Amino acid sequence: MSLRQAAKDVRERAYAPYSCFKVGAALRTPSGMVHVGCNVENVAFPEGTCAEAGAIAAMVAAGDTTIAEVFVIADSPAPVPPCGGCRQKIAEFAGPDVKVTMATVDGQEKVMTVAELLPGLFTAAHMAKT
Ligand code: THU
Repeated sequence: MSLRQAAKDVRERAYAPYSCFKVGAALRTPSGMVHVGCNVENVAFPEGTCAEAGAIAAMVAAGDTTIAEVFVIADSPAPVPPCGGCRQKIAEFAGPDVKVTMATVDGQEKVMTVAELLPGLFTAAHMAKT
């Protein structure tokens, strides 16, 4: 199954009663495994989690720690970009050249690399003096 289809399918299962904005994310690992996630909101709003975070959690729970490709989809007027926190979460497991495809359910797509999405990211090297 394509990453687009996987993300589209899991988006249908998003729990988003507060924003009514369903997001689906799918990622592929170098071995070809696909992991998916959707946003899961909470009545205490900050406790909600993003689709990308769900896919990453599923990947790590399955024993993988390397992302080869990411796909994010929502019913938005323009391809939906990962939020700031999710960019850092993706960068934890993806190299700078990994492609992130942002998409809309009506077929628009925009591709950016992790480095383009998160220039100047915080890395372990910044803690070198501790
Ligand atoms: N959301 C995601 O799941 N991923 C993104 O990249 C952007 C935002 C979710 C969080 C919240 O449930 C809803 O979209 C509105 O912000």
